Amino acid sequence: MKVSFAKLSAPTQGVAVIAVPEAPKGKAATPVKTAPPALGKTAAALDKSLGGAISRAIRAGEFTGKREKILQIWAPGSGRITRVVLVGLGDPKTLDGAVAERIGAAIFAATERETAVTLILEDVGAATLAAHVAAGVVLKSYRFDKYRTKEDKDAKPKLTAISVQSVSPVEAGKAYTGLAAVNAGIFLTRDLVSEPANVIFPDSFAQRAKAALAKDGVQVEILNEAALRKLGMGALLGVGQGSAQKSCVLVARWNGGKDKAAAPLALVGKGVCFDTGGISLKQPGGMWDMKWDMAGAGVVVGTMQALARRKAKVNVVGLCGLVENMPDAKAQRPGDVVTSMSGQTIEVQNTDAEGRLVLCDVLTYVQQRFKPRAIVDLATLTGAIIAALSEHYAGLFSNNDDLAETLAAAGKKVGERLWRFPMGEEYDRELKSLIADMKNIGGPRAGSITAAQFLQRFINKDVPWAHLDIAGVVWNEKGTPLAAPGATGYGVRLLNRFIVDNYEG
Ligand code: BES
Ligand code: MN
Ligand code: ZN
Repeated sequence: MKVSFAKLSAPTQGVAVIAVPEAPKGKAATPVKTAPPALGKTAAALDKSLGGAISRAIRAGEFTGKREKILQIWAPGSGRITRVVLVGLGDPKTLDGAVAERIGAAIFAATERETAVTLILEDVGAATLAAHVAAGVVLKSYRFDKYRTKEDKDAKPKLTAISVQSVSPVEAGKAYTGLAAVNAGIFLTRDLVSEPANVIFPDSFAQRAKAALAKDGVQVEILNEAALRKLGMGALLGVGQGSAQKSCVLVARWNGGKDKAAAPLALVGKGVCFDTGGISLKQPGGMWDMKWDMAGAGVVVGTMQALARRKAKVNVVGLCGLVENMPDAKAQRPGDVVTSMSGQTIEVQNTDAEGRLVLCDVLTYVQQRFKPRAIVDLATLTGAIIAALSEHYAGLFSNNDDLAETLAAAGKKVGERLWRFPMGEEYDRELKSLIADMKNIGGPRAGSITAAQFLQRFINKDVPWAHLDIAGVVWNEKGTPLAAPGATGYGVRLLNRFIVDNYEG
């Protein structure tokens, strides 16, 4: 999408999108009808040039400027304006970045058949909000259609250029640069998550991530199986041992902080490129979804790209544990005991509880090597989190109240919400094994919490750590306000906001 910024001026041709604030409540013209919204100067000038077509349509269509509501006016006037689209802003006082992006997404949905549109954002307030509207248009425009060879060209969205008019176009353009960096990261995440498992497997994931990140100045290392064996990552390697694909760990470093030697923030992602369940095989129905069991890793890579593209002033390391979980003659069996890099032994009672086995070794490694100031891990870890929260929140688990609160606050700001769960000894007990230090599953209840307790056993005392169980939010069959059906890219904006608010400047 080509995005340009310009001063406000009534267009004389093409398609105009006008963001219209909601009429203030309590000023209803009659008890049943709300007063029509007032048009800004530019919109009013356009209306005049169209012989009043816009204000007539507002009255006839009872358009009130309600948030994300759309009113289409086709072929108004007799000139070269082909279409005017009104989009409701709601109460301008409650506009924020997340709301502005949703409005942008609604604009994309309403105008995707056009090739170019002009957005008149007179009443959105701060210049940054105009930038967020533009970012929302772009976010919603993402499609993963590289494997569709027969799609009707006319069925595809055509919108490739938006000209954004606002009060301070220079400022809006500057703000947009940062948002575009984040959008690029989100698109990279969506690409990785959408790819099928015959295309994205541990090695191809790592290579693709490396190619993308190296271009933006991120240092990338790939630890191969020999290296992982030497490090003693028996838990991670056990998961991958039934696969024809070699396991690996991706280490990405962005050292943008003032003090290059300062302890980094660590992001750790579960990268199970396909999860069959292993010998504890999953049911076939829906198993195809397990191609996106690497979404945690996808979010880590997308976030690293976002940070690098906007030259974030922060030191961050991003690690991905990349494996494929397959049933095979060589696969690990239920009951096998593996030794993790931490030295702790694990009885693998269920080979389908593999994400925690991958993460535990990467968590040990990241602490040993980088001594991070805090760790956030992201994983499509449990089906139980979907039972608890559906697609509306991701689960948050932490050993540190400050970290939990700042993460939740960042999520709230960007509209990627987190809900914190309790943790404690009463849940941890469930992991007791008869023959090893722990088993990899708890009882039938509170499965998301016992999974988090398992991870916490690998976190050193005094290291602030949070675990985000994102199984319910990274893929959406129906689509979300900001994404077409499929990969949502959930997590990139959340982590980026978390870093901006707590680790930069
Ligand atoms: N990758 C799954 C969790 C999952 C399920 C993600 C559905 C997305 C959608 C994970 O590896 C898994 O299989 N978890 C098991 C754990 C159980 C065996 C303790 C689960 O949730 O059933
Ligand atoms: Mn599994
Ligand atoms: Zn899994």
